[in-house]
Amino acid sequence: MEIEKIKSDFPILQNKNITYLDSGATTQKPRQVLETIENFYEKYNANPHRGAYSLSMEATQIYESTREKIADFINAKYKEEIIFTKNATESLNLIAYSYGIENVKKDDSILISIMEHHSNLVIWQKVSQATDSNLEYMYINKDFEIPDEEIEKKITNKTKIVSIAHVSNVLGTKNNVKKIIEQAHKVGAIVIVDAAQSVPHMKIDVQDLDADFLVFSGHKMLAPLGIGILYGKKEILEKMSPFLMGGDMIEYVHEQETTFAPLPNKFEAGTQNVEGVVGLGAAIDYIQNIGYENIEKSEKELLSYARQELSKLPYLKLYLTPNIENHAGGVISFNIEGVHPHDVASILDSEGVCVRSGNHCAQPLMRFLGIDSTCRASFYFYNTKEDVNKLVQALNKAYNMFSKYIKK
Ligand code: ALA
Repeated sequence: MEIEKIKSDFPILQNKNITYLDSGATTQKPRQVLETIENFYEKYNANPHRGAYSLSMEATQIYESTREKIADFINAKYKEEIIFTKNATESLNLIAYSYGIENVKKDDSILISIMEHHSNLVIWQKVSQATDSNLEYMYINKDFEIPDEEIEKKITNKTKIVSIAHVSNVLGTKNNVKKIIEQAHKVGAIVIVDAAQSVPHMKIDVQDLDADFLVFSGHKMLAPLGIGILYGKKEILEKMSPFLMGGDMIEYVHEQETTFAPLPNKFEAGTQNVEGVVGLGAAIDYIQNIGYENIEKSEKELLSYARQELSKLPYLKLYLTPNIENHAGGVISFNIEGVHPHDVASILDSEGVCVRSGNHCAQPLMRFLGIDSTCRASFYFYNTKEDVNKLVQALNKAYNMFSKYIKK
C-alpha cells in the first residue's frame, strides 16, 4: 500500500493543512468517487425505474448494477436483499418499524448492549414501549468488552431481537457477533448487526456470519453523505410490510387499498439518492482495489503504534480494550483528566488536528463509564504514523496549557 499515492487521491487532504482523525464520523472522499458522481450527472442523470426512454434505462442499469456490486461485496445471496436507505440509522428504523413492532409481543425481550450508538438504542425503546416488551442490555467488563458469560446469560427464551454494534464507535471494541448470532439463533431470536464502524475496515460476509440483518452507512467508507444499506435475509424481508409509502414501492393502487412491489422496491419509496448509490459503488471499487487485506494490515499497524504512543502520556486516560485483537475500526477514545474534551479538541484544532469530542451519541455508555464525554481520534487507511505523532504533539500542547488548572 503506497500511502503517499493514496493520500494524493484525497483532494481535501491536499487542499487543507489538516491531520484528519475523525473518519469514524465520516471519511474523506477520494477523487475517483467525486469524478464518478460528476460523470453520472454529466452523462446518465435521469430517474431510475421511472422512464421508458434510454437515458432513464441507463440510470436504472447503473443503480441496479450497484445493488449487485454491494450484494457481492458483503456476500449476500440475492441482490434483492440489499435495500438502499439514507444511512445506518434509517436502516435500523426500518427494521424496528417493519419487523420489530410487528413481531415482538408483550413480555418478550429485545437485547442490545450498553455500548450502542443512540441510533441502535432509542428506536428499541420505542419498540419496547409500543409492544410492552422489555429492553435489556449486555454490559461491558473492565476491559471494555462484553464477556461471553454476559452473552450467554442475557440471551434467553424471551429474547426475540438482538441488535448489536459490530464495532463500538466510542471504544473500538469488536464484539463477538458470531457467538451472539449462534446463541440468539438457538432460542429463535433474530440478530441485527450494526456494521457502521466495521464494514469500512474489514471484510464482512453476511452468509458466514449468518446475520439476519446488517446495516451500514456509505459516508464512513469513502462514499457521499446520505446513502446507507440495509441487508436482510430474503425470507424475512419478504414477510415484512413496508415502512415508507410512496412511489415505486407499489404494485397496484386502488382508492382504498394497495398491493406492494416485490423486493427490493417495496422498501424504496420515492426518488432515491442515486448519486449516493453511484458514489458508494465507486467507493467499493476503491476499497477493493486496495484490498481489505492491505487495509486491515496497515490499520492494525497504525492502531498498535497509536496505542503505544498514547499510552506513554501519563496525563491521558484511554478507554481501550487491552486486547488489540478485539480492537478495530481505528477508534481511540481518551481524556486529559480534569480538562473538558471540548477544550482539548479546540486546542488540537488549533494545531490542525481534527478529532471528535462529546458523548459520541452514546450517552448510556458514558453514564456507565461515569463520564460525560471523551475525545475520540478515529483513523482510516489514509492516515500515517506522522498523523499519530501530530496528535501526540498537539495533546502535549493542550496538557501544558491546562496543567496548572487541573485539580490534583
Ligand atoms: N456515528 C458517527 C460517529 O460515531 C457520527 O461519529
